[in-house]
This record gives sequence, C-alpha cells and structure tokens, in this order.
Amino acid sequence: MMLGLVILLWISVVFAENLNFCAYHRDNLRRSLSLGSPGPDNLLLPFNGTRIPGSQESIDIQIFIKEFFGEKLSNDWSLEVDSFEEKGYNFTNLVFTPFNGDTFLVLAAHYDTKIEPKGFIGATDSGASCAILLYVAKFLDQILTSDRDLLNPWLLGSNVGLKIVFFDGEEALEYWTAEDSIYGSKHLAEKWKNQGLLDRIDLFVLLDLLGSQEQLPVHSYHRSSHAYYEVLSDIERVIAKGRDRSLNPSELQYLMKGPFLDDDHRPFYEAGVSVLHLIPFPFPSVWHKLEDNFENLDETKIQRWAVMMSEFVVKFVNS
Ligand SMILES: *[C@@H]1O[C@H](CO)[C@@H](O)[C@H](O)[C@H]1NC(C)=O
Ligand SMILES: *[C@@H]1O[C@H](CO)[C@@H](O)[C@H](O)[C@H]1NC(C)=O
Ligand SMILES: [Zn+2]
Repeated sequence: MMLGLVILLWISVVFAENLNFCAYHRDNLRRSLSLGSPGPDNLLLPFNGTRIPGSQESIDIQIFIKEFFGEKLSNDWSLEVDSFEEKGYNFTNLVFTPFNGDTFLVLAAHYDTKIEPKGFIGATDSGASCAILLYVAKFLDQILTSDRDLLNPWLLGSNVGLKIVFFDGEEALEYWTAEDSIYGSKHLAEKWKNQGLLDRIDLFVLLDLLGSQEQLPVHSYHRSSHAYYEVLSDIERVIAKGRDRSLNPSELQYLMKGPFLDDDHRPFYEAGVSVLHLIPFPFPSVWHKLEDNFENLDETKIQRWAVMMSEFVVKFVNS
C-alpha cells in the first residue's frame, strides 16, 4: 500500500517533470502573445493604449483583466480589489488567487502608465509583463483543469498558494521620489501586513520592462532569491538552446551591490519578503519615452518569458 503510493507519486513527478508542456505552448503562444493577430484570445494587444490611474482607459483595462479571469478561465480565481484614493487619483490593484496555501508565491507587474509624455503607452513598462502574467494564468488554469491529478500531490503536499497581482500607480505622478511612486504596491503591502499575509510570502516575483527588441541582461539582484534565479536560468537554457539568453547566474556583480533598482518590490523587500526582480539593466533605450510603444516590442522575447514563467511556477510548486 505504502510502496504503491510512493511509486504512484514517483511516476507522477517523473511524468510531469518530462512533460515540458511543449504542445500546450505551441498551440497557445502565437494567438495569445503576438503583435500581428488581433482576436479574442490575444492578451497583449489590449495593452496598446494609455492606462493613467483613475482614467477611463485604466478602468477599461481593469475590466479586460477581470473578464479574462472571470470568463476565459475555467477554474475559480478569486479576486481581491484593493482600491483607494490618493492625491486626487483613484488607484486599483487587482489580485487573483487560484488556490490558497499556508504560504504563497506572488507574481506581479504594474499595469498603469506614466501621465507624461502625453500618449505614453508603456509597452515594456509594463504592458508586456502584464500580458505574460495573463498567459501564465491561462497556462495554470489549463493544468488545474486537465492535469490536476499531476499537480494535486504538490498542491496538497507543499500547500503553497499563488497570487497574481496587477499593481496600479507604480509610476510617479510627477517626479520619481520615495513618496511619489509605487502607490499601489505600498498600499497593498500595508494591507497585507495588517492581515498577517506578508510573513506568508515565500517569494515575490516582479516583472518589469520586459519585451523590448534589445538583448538586455536581467541580473540576479537579491541574495535571498538567487537560488530561484538559477532555477529560472536553467529553464531559459533549455528553451533558448544557447541563443540570446538574458539570465546569467555566474554574473554576481549586481548581487554583490545589493538591491539598487527602485520598483514595486520595495515595500515587500523592506518588510523582509524574498524578492526576485526580473528587470533588465540597463533599461531599454525607449524607457519612459513615447517610443516605448508596440512597434518596439519583440514578440519572440515576450513569448519566451511567458514560457519561462509558466514552467517556473510548476517547478516552484514542485520544489
Ligand atoms: C497600437 O496602437 C496604435 C495606435 O492606435 C496603432 O497605430 C498600432 O498599429 C497598434 N499596434 C499594434 C501592434 O496593433
Ligand atoms: C474615484 O472613484 C469614485 C467612484 O468609485 C468617484 O466618486 C470619485 O470621484 C473618484 N475620484 C477621482 C479623484 O477620480
Ligand atoms: Zn516606468
């Protein structure tokens, strides 16, 4: 009986480890994350617009995100809406949870855009990252639906939950200072702190400035998450087949310097949460310019990040 259970678990782990989900990605990547094929399944093109906090465009993208989770996915993704008003603006963070746990993996990106320059789209900042998170959600939803038996031993055994966060108000309203920036993440971190949730975050993964056409390195910035950076790098090595890699675990220069890029992770990091900050440095050359638009995105890079993050979550739950 016991031996049977062990063999069963062993088979499910080995089988799942080898699945690699290639067929799933082949069927879904192109229609979900391509620049050239508009359609109901495209997760990227809805971000081709401004998303200033409190604006109608911001409300529209919130509706798109909520309808995606509520109508396009099969499982019950519970929604936490964290809305507040500050400095004359309405801000709204959206948090989606497919399954709870004693502890959590958090995946996050910001969906708001800068007020200036007028018409700023924020294709890499951070429209592409939001689309990648939507793809990861869709991928996990599929696993929860058709491969749930494979995931169950992990879900129940390690009891790790997942939260996907879309932050509002990352950008400064005027000039970036500690006070004028990351409105949404400061608010959510405070809320979660009061609820005792901050201590239950195993890892906080923040995606930002991904998807530009330039080949930019994404360094390991935090000691506490370096082991996870290595896991992600292993995944990239398999997918990239040696070409155009962004991650390099032996480049420790930025790890030694310690965290120095200010972003939505700050309030979580300062509360002692382990952070994996997935952001290129140097930043894309279009950063905070009108040219950070959809013409300057690279759909191949975005698709690769989507696969990497999908496989990372499966590995994380299994670790
Ligand atoms: C993004 O929007 C602009 C302006 O509406 C449009 O000209 C452009 O074709 C759009 N890009 C894509 C990839 O759809
Ligand atoms: C914020 O939203 C509420 C409705 O939800 C509205 O009454 C209020 O005017 C809004 N505030 C701003 C500054 O837009
Ligand atoms: Zn920005």
